[in-house]
Amino acid sequence: MPSIANADPETDARFMAAAIALARRHLGATQPNPSVGAIVVAPGPVPHVLGRGVTAPGGRPHAEPQALAQAGAAARGATIYSTLEPCSHIGKTPPCVDAIIRAGIARVVVAVLDPDPRVAGRGCRFLREAGVDVSTGVMTAAAEEGLAGFLTHRRLGRPHLTLKLAVSPDGAIGRAGEANVAVTGAAARAAVHAMRAESDAVMVGIGTALADDPRLDVRLDGVIDRKPLRVVIDAEARLPLASRLVRTAPEHPVWVIAGGGAPSARMRALRDAGVHVIEAARDDAGRVSLADALRLLGLYGVMSVLCEGGTELAAALLAHDLVDRVALFEGAIPLGAGAIAAPPSLANRGAGLRERFLLVGARAHGPDRLSTFERRHRDKG
Ligand SMILES: NC(=O)c1ccc[n+]([C@@H]2O[C@H](COP(=O)([O-])OP(=O)(O)OC[C@H]3O[C@@H](n4cnc5c(N)ncnc54)[C@H](OP(=O)(O)O)[C@@H]3O)[C@@H](O)[C@H]2O)c1
Repeated sequence: MPSIANADPETDARFMAAAIALARRHLGATQPNPSVGAIVVAPGPVPHVLGRGVTAPGGRPHAEPQALAQAGAAARGATIYSTLEPCSHIGKTPPCVDAIIRAGIARVVVAVLDPDPRVAGRGCRFLREAGVDVSTGVMTAAAEEGLAGFLTHRRLGRPHLTLKLAVSPDGAIGRAGEANVAVTGAAARAAVHAMRAESDAVMVGIGTALADDPRLDVRLDGVIDRKPLRVVIDAEARLPLASRLVRTAPEHPVWVIAGGGAPSARMRALRDAGVHVIEAARDDAGRVSLADALRLLGLYGVMSVLCEGGTELAAALLAHDLVDRVALFEGAIPLGAGAIAAPPSLANRGAGLRERFLLVGARAHGPDRLSTFERRHRDKG
C-alpha cells in the first residue's frame, strides 16, 4: 500500500477549506447536483496542489474526475479532498469512486457524508474495500453550509428555504400604495443579488409581484450567466400578462404556483405567455399550501429557494415552520407614515425568531446591517 501523506489535522483543514471555497463558485448553477469542490494534493513534506475541480454548471462533470484529470499520472499515491462523499452509483456519469481507485489515489478526505440513499456511506466503504485510506468529518459544519440545499432536499424532500426581508428601524417593509420603497442601500441590494445568484429559485407572493412588478433577476457586475427560477405564489393565477416577470418569461423561466382549481382561463393565458403554471393543494383558508408548493419544487429538483417576501408570505412560511435560514436586512431610515409592518417575529432585530433560530452572523452592508439566523434543530430524517 502506498505511504499516506498529509494526514495531519491542520493540513487536512487547510486543503478542505480550499475545496469548500472552490465549491462555492458554482453554488446555484449545478442543479440537480450539489456544487462540490475537490482538490488533489501531492504527498511529501511540502504538500502541494496537483489538481482542482468543482461540479460543472448543469451538474456534470463531477468535481473529482476533473481534479484527477488535472493531476494526471501524478495522482498516484496522492490525497484527494472532497467536500462531499464521492458517488458510488451510476448516474449520468460513471461513479467517482471508480475514477479515484483507477487513478491510484492513496487517501480520500471527506467533509460531508452523502445522505442520498444511493450513496449513504457506500462511497467510503467501496474506497476502503479497495485499500484506499478514508478520513471523514473534516470541516463538516463549514462544508454543510454550502451543501445546505442538497442536504435539505435529500433529507426533507423539499428545497432549503432562506427568507430574506429588509426591515426599516420602525419595523416596516414598505409603504402602502407605493412600489419598490427602498428600505436599504446599494451595498445591501448587491448582497441580495449575490444571494439570488447562489439560489436555484427566487420566490415572492403575488402581493409583491402586483405592488412592485419586480424582475427578480441577478444584476451583479461580472455575473452574466445566473438565472435562478423565478417563482410566484399566486392562488388564483392573478400575475398580470403585462408584468415584467411574464414579459421576460420566455428567456428567464417564471413559475406560478397556483391553488388547485384556479381559473383555467388565467392559467392558460399565463402558459401561452411562456409561464410554467403548476397547481398545488390548497390549505384550509383556500390559499396555496406552502408545504405542498415546496414539495412540488423539490420534485422538480429545486434544492434552494430564496424567498423575498412580502409580509404575508413570510409570516405564513414562518408559521408553517418551512424556513431554514433568515437573512434580515435592517435599514437605517424609518419609513414613517403608511408603513406596512414586517411580520412580528422579524421586528426588534428578529427578537421573535430567537426561540427557533440561532443568530449565526451579523455584518454591515454600507449603512445597513444583515443578521443571519439558522434554524436550530430539525429532524434530519
Ligand atoms: N422590504 C422587503 O424586503 C420587501 C420584500 C418584498 C415585498 N415587500 C413589500 O411587501 C408588500 C407586499 O406584501 P404582501 O404581504 O401584501 O404580499 P405577499 O406576501 O407578497 O403576497 C401575499 C399573497 O400571496 C398569496 N398567497 C397564496 N398562498 C399564500 C399563503 N399560503 N400564505 C400567504 N400568502 C399566500 C395571497 O394571495 P392569493 O390568495 O391571491 O394568492 C396573498 O395575498 C409590498 O408593498 C412590497 O413592496 C417588501
